[in-house]
Amino acid sequence: MKAIVWTKYGSADGLQLREVAKPSPKDNEVLIKVYATTVTTADCELRSFKGSSVFWLPMRLYIGFLKPTRMTILGQELAGDIEATGKDVTHYKKGDAVFAWTGLRLGGNAEYACLSETATMAIKPANMTYAEAAAIPLGGLEAWQYLNGTVQAGQQVLIIGAGGSIGTFAVQLAKHFGAEVTAVDHTEKLDMLRSIGADQVIDYTKEDFTKNGQTYDVIFDAPGKSSLSRCERSLKPNGQYLSANPGTSQQLRTIWNVITRRRKATTQYTNRRTENLAALKQLIEAGKVKSVIDRQYPLEQTAEAHRYVETGMKRGNVVITIVHESHT
Ligand SMILES: NC(=O)c1ccc[n+]([C@@H]2O[C@H](COP(=O)([O-])OP(=O)(O)OC[C@H]3O[C@@H](n4cnc5c(N)ncnc54)[C@H](OP(=O)(O)O)[C@@H]3O)[C@@H](O)[C@H]2O)c1
Repeated sequence: MKAIVWTKYGSADGLQLREVAKPSPKDNEVLIKVYATTVTTADCELRSFKGSSVFWLPMRLYIGFLKPTRMTILGQELAGDIEATGKDVTHYKKGDAVFAWTGLRLGGNAEYACLSETATMAIKPANMTYAEAAAIPLGGLEAWQYLNGTVQAGQQVLIIGAGGSIGTFAVQLAKHFGAEVTAVDHTEKLDMLRSIGADQVIDYTKEDFTKNGQTYDVIFDAPGKSSLSRCERSLKPNGQYLSANPGTSQQLRTIWNVITRRRKATTQYTNRRTENLAALKQLIEAGKVKSVIDRQYPLEQTAEAHRYVETGMKRGNVVITIVHESHT
């Protein structure tokens, strides 16, 4: 099968289209023919090994110390058809159309992938293409985890980095939960944010939201560009600050602030449950949430897709199309 092999840590030049062995499912696994997968900011950070220093050593030990050796195909999101099932699989059958988060197993940027039937996977929403469904799991589950049960109807919610993968789902979910949503991102993304339901938009290149006197019940920072101390004056008295991507020092500082000022926890470690993916599927099929797709690339141009994602210009999601849907 064709796959994009991750040959070295660093630039996207290390991503190479190669012929590799097609995987075979273990007894509890399904073999998925991948129709679409994605390139996310998290993939680019992993590829170049940018990220929290706390995880540097464990991740190098897990993936390969000097170069990727154990995990050699990137891609955490996919949508496709089940082509074969292991003998113990009971939840899925050959021909099922699914979408999934592969987790740290990665492997989505290939023509085929195997996943345990208990992986974070669900039947693809009936009203979505494979490309649209592939863009749901990472950002959708992250936004769901932070906002479901937190945002209440009538609240005022500010979303930082609203134009990205997590942010576009956060805007739509907060609206669905009945909040008034203010979306913060770069100039070029503001029209798209209005189109997915943002009530107000703020261009972070022109305005500092912490200085405009507005206050919010919930501030959700998807890319981790702010801090609780900076956002303090923008929070209502019992307001909650949430960061999906806090740095190490910010994690420690926010824990201290929570202890001393009795604010609720500001960050969570992702628990991407299958039932949350199923809940998102229901909202999608009810027309409440959609995926925002900026560009689509063929598999052989995955390195180019990484370079585009790294420009920061991406609106929503970038998809790698492996099987064109007109051919399905
Ligand atoms: N996707 C996930 O499920 C997931 C899970 C856990 C952690 N993370 C991490 O969370 C981060 C965000 O993920 P993502 O996939 O949503 O990234 P993304 O798609 O790149 O979106 C981030 C957005 O934040 C905007 N931004 C940058 N600086 C900003 C600022 N100062 N104020 C407001 N907006 C700003 C970016 O716009 P410009 O680039 O145009 O400035 C971009 O639109 C990544 O570091 C990722 O590794 C992601």
